[in-house]
Amino acid sequence: MTSTLASPDLRRRLEGIQLPDPLGFGTLMAPVMAIAHYRDGAWEDVRLDALDPLSLAPHTQALHYGQAIFEGMKAYRNLGTDLPGTALLFRPHEHARRFNRSATRLGMPELDEDVYVATLERLVSTLDALVPERQGQSLYLRPTMFGATAHLSVVPSTEYCFVVLATPSDAFFTAPISAWIERRFSRAGPGGTGNVKAAGNYAASFAAAAPLAKLGFQQLLWLDAVHHTHIEEFTAMNVFVRRGDTILTPPLSDTILAGITRDSLLRLAGSLGLSMVEKPVDVAELVDAIASGEDVEVFGCGTGAVVAPVELIGDETGLRLPLPPFPVATRLRRHMLDLQHGVLPAPAGWQRPVPTR
Ligand SMILES: Cc1ncc(COP(=O)(O)O)c(C=O)c1O
Repeated sequence: MTSTLASPDLRRRLEGIQLPDPLGFGTLMAPVMAIAHYRDGAWEDVRLDALDPLSLAPHTQALHYGQAIFEGMKAYRNLGTDLPGTALLFRPHEHARRFNRSATRLGMPELDEDVYVATLERLVSTLDALVPERQGQSLYLRPTMFGATAHLSVVPSTEYCFVVLATPSDAFFTAPISAWIERRFSRAGPGGTGNVKAAGNYAASFAAAAPLAKLGFQQLLWLDAVHHTHIEEFTAMNVFVRRGDTILTPPLSDTILAGITRDSLLRLAGSLGLSMVEKPVDVAELVDAIASGEDVEVFGCGTGAVVAPVELIGDETGLRLPLPPFPVATRLRRHMLDLQHGVLPAPAGWQRPVPTR
């Protein structure tokens, strides 16, 4: 693996970039991306290139039929004592495997897992100056694959494009969030694509999310599509509910994304002395428990948000329920960030140090 930028143009584009303050999200796109094409049944080598517009035919398959998938990952500055100052990728092989599950579900070719991880390492190493320094900040990484064949037939592409974009980013949520129980629209039906990161899943949520800001809410809390009785996940986070000493999260199914943060929390629970159980959560019971003053926490988790406690739940019936304080979510957020920044030792393979240029 080499991170040397062969082209003087790419080197120039990286020179003297100042990180904005605040970083926000997507404000500054890294001027260099990784890119590879799949043609004639094989992937070409991934190369680094300038973040210039791609030239696509208007009849490119992904634009019409949505054959597109992505991942969301982060490189964190190592704030620990072991290899301080390097960048750390969090569980990159898990992300590679999920990327390939998404690809398979959408009839797309897989990418070699080691190539995927090496590409991320190479890009992060090259963009080291864009990995921010403060806890909670990160270089957000967006691996994407889309069907690139220019043809209007409703069949899978024969050509694909893989790109990895990067943007320095602040922590997504620094304050507790508000969640809207979505009772009208559905995110994912049985047998559909809800358990993979298909681009269309997100487009399908936009109409439901559109009125939220005016209503004073941030995240959709999706219910199961068949009965609308059980909570499934947030817009882009898995959901956990603490009732007293037990923390519940809906079991994985074909309508729930297998979040890597969710998996991390479940694996960490024992060592943190927490009891976490994968079990369906009835929304009516949850609302009753909060309304009756029970000791309840609701929180989301995901790469972007890490862990985000909920302080208010509402819905279209006029329900507005403030939630009590959220000590466990606060503890889990801090713990995850400490792992991701290398401040605490993590299980094998979770922290992947990336050598700098
Ligand atoms: C729908 C959905 N659920 C859950 C998650 C959380 O997954 P992860 O923890 O792997 O980021 C995400 C974010 O990727 C998501 O988009």
